[in-house]
Amino acid sequence: MTAATTRTLTLGVIRGDGIGPELVDAALQVLGAALAGVAELDVREEEGGARAYERNGTALQDDALARIRGEYDATLKGPVGLPGVRRPDGTEAGLLGGVLRGGLDAYANVRPIRTVPGVRHALHPDTGRIDHVIVRENTEGLYLSRGLGVRNDRAAADQMMMTRHGVERIARFAFRLAEQRSGAPADGVRRVTCVDKSNVLRSYAFFRDIVSEVAAEHPGVELDFRYADAAGHDLVADPGHFDVVVTENFLGDLLSDVAAATVGGLGMCPSGNIGDHAAYFEPIHGSAPTIAGLDRANPVSQILAAAMLLDHVGLREHGDRIRAAVDAAFAGGGVVLDERGSPTVGTAGTARIVAGLLSG
Ligand code: NAD
Ligand code: IPM
Ligand code: MN
Repeated sequence: MTAATTRTLTLGVIRGDGIGPELVDAALQVLGAALAGVAELDVREEEGGARAYERNGTALQDDALARIRGEYDATLKGPVGLPGVRRPDGTEAGLLGGVLRGGLDAYANVRPIRTVPGVRHALHPDTGRIDHVIVRENTEGLYLSRGLGVRNDRAAADQMMMTRHGVERIARFAFRLAEQRSGAPADGVRRVTCVDKSNVLRSYAFFRDIVSEVAAEHPGVELDFRYADAAGHDLVADPGHFDVVVTENFLGDLLSDVAAATVGGLGMCPSGNIGDHAAYFEPIHGSAPTIAGLDRANPVSQILAAAMLLDHVGLREHGDRIRAAVDAAFAGGGVVLDERGSPTVGTAGTARIVAGLLSG
C-alpha cells in the first residue's frame, strides 16, 4: 500500500465456469493497475456456478446473498453455467441469473454497446459510431417463470409477468440514464426507445403504456418505440439512432447479444446488474466452454464490467481511465481481434497491455 491509498474496496468475486476464471484474473489485474495508490482491493471469493453445483449441490452458498448485499462494496462476477450440467427438468443447474438478480432485487440490467475505434465488427459497410445502452428489466417478464413453468410429456408452459412497480422503476432508470448521457450518435437527441411486442401481447402493451406514463415526467428525453423484431433489424442497420433502449427481460437478453455483434462481439460487452441495495457486474456473454483455458477469450467484457463497477462505487474517474486504456490498446494496434472475436495476443496478453497502459 502506498501512502496515497485512501480507501479499501471490498470486492465480492465469483470466478465462474469455462472462461470465467481467466477473465476474472484479467480484470483483477487491470483493476489493481487502475487503483494503484487510490484504493486497496480486498477480494472476497464466493464459489458459484455449474462446477460449484456439482461440488456442493447448489450453484451459490445460502449465505452468499447476504454477504453480497451487506459486506461487499460491489461484486465482480465471471460467466457461469455449463450446458452439460442440467436439472431433471432440462434447464441448466449452474446459472445464477435468477438467484442473484431476484435475490438482490438488482432490477436494472445495464448493457452498454459502444464502438471501440479500431475493433473489427460485423457491419459492412460501417454504419458509424455506436454508443447506446440497453436497459433490460431484470427481475420479471418471461424469466420470472424460471423454475416455475409447468411441463409434462405432452405440453409445457412458462408465463410472462409484468408489474406496475417493476415497469415504472425500470422506465425511470432508463429516462434518468438518458438525461445523463449526450444523446444518440446519429443526431444528438436524448432518446429512450421502448422495445416490446405490444402489437401482439397484453403484457407488452402494459409495459409500453407505463413507459409512456413515465416519459411524461422526463420532457427533455424523446420517447420512441420499436417492436422487438424491427428493433433487432434497426440495432444492426441503424445503430446510431439508439441512445437508451428499455425493454423486457427476455427481449433484452436476446437483443443485447445481437447488438454485441455490431461492436466486435460478445467479448467487448460488459453489464451491470443494479438494484437499490446491491449491484454486481459481469460480461453479457456466457462461459464459452469450447475456448476455456486456451487463452483465446477476449477479456475486454470483464475488464469493462470492472470499470462499470468503479463507476458504481463512486470511482468513475478510474472507470473512465480503464475505458480509455482499452480504447488505446485497440487504437494503438496492440490488441487486435481475429474473425472469431479472440484477441491475437491472447487473454493474458490483452490484460497485460491494458494494465500496462494504466501503469505507464
Ligand atoms: P456464450 O456467450 O458462452 O458463447 C457464445 C459464443 O461467443 C461462442 O462462440 C463463444 O466462444 C463466444 N464468446 C463468448 N464470450 C467470448 C469472449 N469473451 N471472447 C471470445 N469469444 C467469446 O454462450 P453459450 O455458448 O450459449 O453458453 C455457454 C454457457 O454459458 C451456457 O451454460 C449458458 O447457459 C451460460 N451463460 C451464462 C451467462 C452468465 O453467466 N451471465 C450468460 C450467457 C450464457
Ligand atoms: C445473460 C444470460 C442469463 C440470462 C442466463 C444465462 C441466466 O443469458 O445474462 O444474458 O438469461 O439472463
Ligand atoms: Mn444472455
